[in-house]
Amino acid sequence: MSPKTKSAYTVPKLKDFSTNALHKALIEAKLAFSEELLNANSDAAWKVFRDRWMARKNGVLTQINDLWLKTAPKENKREAGQLVNELKQFVEQEISRARGFVDGGAAELAVGLERLDITLPGDRRALGAEHPVIKTMNEIVGVFRNLGYSVEEGPEIETDYYNFEALNFPPNHPARDTQDTLFIANQEAKPLRERLLLRTHTSPVQIRSMEKMKPPVRVVCPGKVHRNDAPDATHSPIFHQVEGLAVDTNITFCDLKGTLDHAMKALFGSSVKTRFYPSFFPFTEPSADVQISCIFCGGKGYRDGGPCRNCKASGWIELLGCGMVDPNVYGFVDYDAKRVSGFAFGMGVERIAILKYGVDDIQLFFNGDVRFLEQFG
Ligand code: PHE
Repeated sequence: MSPKTKSAYTVPKLKDFSTNALHKALIEAKLAFSEELLNANSDAAWKVFRDRWMARKNGVLTQINDLWLKTAPKENKREAGQLVNELKQFVEQEISRARGFVDGGAAELAVGLERLDITLPGDRRALGAEHPVIKTMNEIVGVFRNLGYSVEEGPEIETDYYNFEALNFPPNHPARDTQDTLFIANQEAKPLRERLLLRTHTSPVQIRSMEKMKPPVRVVCPGKVHRNDAPDATHSPIFHQVEGLAVDTNITFCDLKGTLDHAMKALFGSSVKTRFYPSFFPFTEPSADVQISCIFCGGKGYRDGGPCRNCKASGWIELLGCGMVDPNVYGFVDYDAKRVSGFAFGMGVERIAILKYGVDDIQLFFNGDVRFLEQFG
């Protein structure tokens, strides 16, 4: 048995214009239209189908108009006109609704006026990229995680106690002035140590970590810090640091040097050298600034036949502060300064990112310009 194949719908000439005959013709036309619509499931078939029904010249609707309406006897004209209009509306509405059909007959409701053009390029949704500061911060943290350090965080709004007092900054000590602190207003009624401020460094997380755990301690503390600095190419009132703290028995300055030398090589490449330059921080003794050999001139101090601008011809770039934890600090966290020793360090994330990626203005990290940020994707 062969499957029934129906021949395509042709507009019948009407002889009978009675209400019944008109309705029957209308229903047949609608059925034929609906069936053809379902089969118009490719781009090409859709175009043929649409033209077949809608073409002004000899389209099915035009034919119906000519064959049913124009030839209707006077007394049936009104009713024939109504039915032809109804059919026209039905056909137009279904065609506009079906404009959302795509290949394969998947029906989607038409949203726009035009049928979906699947050859147009799609809306591109750019993938987000890690912000260069966060990317660098994660990289630094990763280096220390690999050495067995765990990650600790602390609040950005700190008390004077954690930001200063427990870190061995006595009240009114001039070292406090070096921190350009932003204080929270209306705190004067509280005792000094409880007054709130925006933390000027991540070092308060050293204290919070030691309060929480007993030695051995090995933590890194990444985070945002604030200082009352006017923004320019090298300063920003908001920036980021990664703090490090290791406390155990028998930790020496050699451990500090070895650890930071390794970290700098991991971050900037194995040919980079480090040097420890005497410095001062109230919470470390002795203290040092760590310099790395200039990554732009290879430590030579000159480049392209002239002095290296990046290291001011010195061959060294200062990168971070560090030192052996001052025994006074252990007093604040109930560690036995006679039994334990340790080191701490703090590095500026933007500063490291600037060097790693050759960025010439720290403000670029905070302006949110996608043309800058997308380069780190
Ligand atoms: N907190 C110091 C600063 O921001 C850096 C530092 C951290 C120095 C740890 C020594 C030890 O300047």
